[in-house]
Amino acid sequence: MAQLWGGRFTKETDDLVYKFNASIGFDQKMLDEDTDGSIAHAKMLASVGIITDEECKDITEGLDAIRNDVHAGNLVITDKYEDIHSFMEANLIDRIGDTGKKLHTGRSRNDQVALDMRLYTRKQVLLVKDELKGLLEVILGIMEDNLETYMPGFTHLQKAQPVTLAHHLGAYFEMFKRDVTRLDDIYERMNFCPLGAGALAGTTYPLDREFVARELSFYGPTVNSMDSVSDRDYLIEFLSACSIIMMHLSRFCEEMIIWNSNEYRFIELDDGFSTGSSIMPQKKNPDIAELVRGKTGRVYASLMSILTTMKGIPLAYNKDMQEDKELSFDAFETVKNCIHLFTGMLATTKFNKDVMAKSAVNGFTNATDAADYLVKKGMPFRDAHRVIGEIVLFCIDKGIAIDDMKLNELKGFSEMFESDVYDAISLKTCVEKRLTPGAPGPEVMKKAIETERAFLKGLK
Ligand code: ARG
Repeated sequence: MAQLWGGRFTKETDDLVYKFNASIGFDQKMLDEDTDGSIAHAKMLASVGIITDEECKDITEGLDAIRNDVHAGNLVITDKYEDIHSFMEANLIDRIGDTGKKLHTGRSRNDQVALDMRLYTRKQVLLVKDELKGLLEVILGIMEDNLETYMPGFTHLQKAQPVTLAHHLGAYFEMFKRDVTRLDDIYERMNFCPLGAGALAGTTYPLDREFVARELSFYGPTVNSMDSVSDRDYLIEFLSACSIIMMHLSRFCEEMIIWNSNEYRFIELDDGFSTGSSIMPQKKNPDIAELVRGKTGRVYASLMSILTTMKGIPLAYNKDMQEDKELSFDAFETVKNCIHLFTGMLATTKFNKDVMAKSAVNGFTNATDAADYLVKKGMPFRDAHRVIGEIVLFCIDKGIAIDDMKLNELKGFSEMFESDVYDAISLKTCVEKRLTPGAPGPEVMKKAIETERAFLKGLK
């Protein structure tokens, strides 16, 4: 055991207590953040004259060397150390001697870990955003190619009205676009530096918190030192955003699983993104989509976990907060992997356009348009709705579509029908004439796509 404390203790820590208390098993992931934070702190200590430039040089070079040795595999992080902070400090003192003991001046592990976690999370926010950008590119590409690929739109998973593939995927584009902008909002709010808060009440040393904030590319220092060491809101916000991303992915996966089913056959997943069965030779299963849908649960779990951990904690730091890491780290990796794999799966999916178009013409997807036809001829909508309802019943009985009815049969339901009805309720008209902003009509979709292209181009 190599601990940073012990002066006031008369006994060794119990073995089980040591293990239970330690976080080195998981917080070693923050090696880079801990190193960067300590280097910035050392430079600041030198800039205000608390340590000399010579000492600062020794400390920063020592820290960098430790980091490099760990990355190169020449130095192994073991559970001899309580956490990554203890590991770094102990190794620094081993290497450079007493100067290393000055690094922690004016600092507590409370503001140190608050900084590390913030730096780590900030990086993840950007990585998740990058993955989302890749996904948005793929979605928009498919939209551009499928302005006139007709398919049924559903409500209650019952055929409702015809749409296009571009329009359907456009809905997902909006969801993931909101996710991107949500990440931007989180970044703006979280990008302040907690270092210098000390254990909870700042310090009597003349620390230059602006300097550290600048060194680490924060907008500035956090305002209140007690809040600084006990705030994990940014993490909760990010895990909420991750949960929403997973919810969006999961809905998309659910649709792809349905579309890929033998009954629908709207799509065919690429062999590279499907799996087989150990017993049924004919099977090609959408396991990736199912796994992404399934992994949504563990990301939600990380959000529930941190919310619950934080809910009863009095100010300021309490050890409960060490529980912020394991599930969050797992969630970060899960979300990045899921977006990445989903993007690959979508990019290689084959859309069976004929099957989709055929599916769009049956199931009375033009019933609303047939009612609208009568309205345009002068019938009040409620009456038109009833007339078409009777026609649908008639067609179900005969096993035909509205388009299959003869004009005199239609006239039997209303004298207002004329020969132009067939064009008015054709699949093409039903889609192309839907020109309200946000509708699937190719003319308005084209404009929507231009807007989204510009959005993607402008993304940092
Ligand atoms: N491992 C601790 C954590 O992750 C570091 C902070 C320890 N601070 C303390 N006062 N014990 O929260």
